[in-house]
Amino acid sequence: MSGNITFTMIKPDAVKAGHIGDILARINNAGFKIIAMKYTKLSAEKAGEFYAVHKERPFYGELVDFMSSGPIVAAVLEKDNAVADFRKLIGATNPAEAAEGTIRALYAKSIGENAVHGADSDENAKIEASFHFAGTDMHR
Ligand code: RTP
Ligand code: MG
Repeated sequence: MSGNITFTMIKPDAVKAGHIGDILARINNAGFKIIAMKYTKLSAEKAGEFYAVHKERPFYGELVDFMSSGPIVAAVLEKDNAVADFRKLIGATNPAEAAEGTIRALYAKSIGENAVHGADSDENAKIEASFHFAGTDMHR
């Protein structure tokens, strides 16, 4: 896999609020191709492992509780410049600071419960995709 994939999750808040369809439509309309996708739920252990990089942060416990609180959609997306373009599509971590029209501006309620995840580097995109999907579950 080269630098043309990113990894995303539609987080429990957005799933619960019924935004899966709208968010996927925005992802497709922005030119991303879904090459793997599943509706799943993270255990607290899996959520903790996924966000282990934030272990020392004050919000880690809350983040793990939130990410394991309900079902999510996990997906691998393909597009030129996928990581940066997807971060632009979702907007700033804090929805109050997210640019107008971004997914977080539209669907997120707070910095903690912010509707979507987007990988922050090509390297992490590959690690996160492999965390959720076997190579045989990705179809280009
Ligand atoms: P993500 O990894 O989920 O795409 O979000 P991000 O890169 O924009 O932000 P990051 O710094 O990686 O933080 C990961 C997630 O932790 C929660 N968070 N809560 N209460 C807080 O101050 C706080 N800060 C971050 C958010 O769910 C954020 O997306
Ligand atoms: Mg991040």
